[in-house]
Amino acid sequence: MIRSFPSKAFAALFSLVIFSGCNQKEPSPQISDKKWWKEAVVYQIYPRSFKDSDGDGIGDLNGIISKLDYIKSLGIDVVWLNPIYSSPNDDNGYDVSDYRNIMKDFGDMKNFDSLVKGMHERGIKLVMDLVVNHSSDEHEWFKQSRSSRTNPYRDYYHWWNAERGKPAYRYSLFDINHDAWRYDSLTNAYYLHYFSPKQPDLNWENPRLRKEVYDIMKFWADKGIDGFRLDAFQFAAKDTSFPEFPKGLENNFQLYYAMGPHLHDYLKEMNSEVFSRYDVMSVAEGAGNSFDDAHNLVDADRKELDMAYAFDGVGIATPQGYSLLHFKDVFSRWDSAFAVKGWLSIFLSNHDQARMVSRFGNDSPAFRDLSAKMLATFVLTMRGTPYYYNGDELGMTNAGFKTITDFRDMPTLNEYRHQKDIHGDTVKYLERVKAESRDNGRTPFQWDTTKNAGFTTGTPWIAVNPNYKAINADLEEKDQNSCLNYFRKMVKLRKDNPVLVYGKYTLLDKGNPKVYAYLREEGEKKMLVVLNFSTETARVETGISAMNTKLLIANYPESPVSKTGDDIFELRPYEARIYQLK
Ligand code: NOJ
Repeated sequence: MIRSFPSKAFAALFSLVIFSGCNQKEPSPQISDKKWWKEAVVYQIYPRSFKDSDGDGIGDLNGIISKLDYIKSLGIDVVWLNPIYSSPNDDNGYDVSDYRNIMKDFGDMKNFDSLVKGMHERGIKLVMDLVVNHSSDEHEWFKQSRSSRTNPYRDYYHWWNAERGKPAYRYSLFDINHDAWRYDSLTNAYYLHYFSPKQPDLNWENPRLRKEVYDIMKFWADKGIDGFRLDAFQFAAKDTSFPEFPKGLENNFQLYYAMGPHLHDYLKEMNSEVFSRYDVMSVAEGAGNSFDDAHNLVDADRKELDMAYAFDGVGIATPQGYSLLHFKDVFSRWDSAFAVKGWLSIFLSNHDQARMVSRFGNDSPAFRDLSAKMLATFVLTMRGTPYYYNGDELGMTNAGFKTITDFRDMPTLNEYRHQKDIHGDTVKYLERVKAESRDNGRTPFQWDTTKNAGFTTGTPWIAVNPNYKAINADLEEKDQNSCLNYFRKMVKLRKDNPVLVYGKYTLLDKGNPKVYAYLREEGEKKMLVVLNFSTETARVETGISAMNTKLLIANYPESPVSKTGDDIFELRPYEARIYQLK
């Protein structure tokens, strides 16, 4: 079996497949339920690939600072920054060696303070990644922990002494052999790593470790940051008897690993120690294994987290395409499950995914621009907090990598080696990662037509997409009808119309295989969204008379050619329109 870590597989691992429980009734939220983080639009920055200021080929904090006016011009409210802490970069910063320092490649604490200041001056909030399911093996805690069985840091990690025999099989997501136990001869014991061997899992059962983490969180909150995104945290709590991992569950390992014993206790403790003492938002990575799990993570009354980040939607697309009926079904079910309590993130991409327009839209020259705008219309009109990944506002596409040497992502490279070792089908694997590797979403931001797309004057750490001469911020800035300017208009439309944030969502013409149509309504305010997800002209029956609508925004510059019937809207390929109901 080819197990890989391209975006689809990654999403599937964190996704929720069981649609059960929680059939909530549908009232409008109370005023007291309104929160800044519900009304925000989040822009995700992958710092390594955003903007390099010193010519070393790696994006950095000063690079981001130099682009703050651009970021502000998008109209977004919050930046989510992928990890910037000291790290040996086995997994691009998701292996932290010092939680209170800045990665050298990215700059220093002074640069960080200037970044926060620059953001706050512009009214932008900052959410940081909190990576505490695991640390780096180069963290001082782990160095101490591995040094002797009696070291005070021993219990900061999970160890299995070898005289007990080999521990029972545990699946690792990033290990070349997918073995989550790594033998360490120094103390004749195995340590646990759900991700790579350089990412040993922290022992959340240890109250000293938990206190250290809360202190770290306070350190950053005291610096003025505005929120935390909890990386892989649903795996933090473990059954420390470590029973054998059920074979066959590897591609759905989260069904077994997520939501372990005491996870809710740890989140409640984190909330009372940190979240409740600051005006910060908190978002989980993932949403457990059922709607009930998802609710329990973010039900405000439980005082744990603010927002779930469910992977079911983003996991739907395959290189062969996806069914719009399935897509509608997933997003509609999630919406109805969260209609009364709890809050969701809405997204179609992030740093673990291939590019949104290549997966969910159509990146051929004829349809790239239209479909990217159509997807922006979707993400910015659903209930939940929209997350937009840097570059998607330009309609940036997959990388077009040709050989394995083009890739930089550790799990992608590890799995390739694994396939070679077991004489697997490396050609098939390469085809798969060309479409799905998360490196597709990590190529440098395309600023302009100059060398390396204006990202760096040096050699970029990962190749620039060759299409940068046609797709870049500079060109799109000058074109009123560009993706970039459409994105800005959509963000403004959402900000001007709270109905798009809080309003009730109703799916229309459910069985339509090409068009996604829905109503958003709050009190008197009603908005109709119609989106053609296909390359053909398509009709949708909304049950709403066109006479009663006023067009607010559309992704085609020209008005429709053919007149629509009374309640039938005809849409051109990838056409998106939003109407206000009179
Ligand atoms: C989830 C992050 O989004 C991903 O990039 C990372 O590789 C794993 N967690 C491990 O930290």
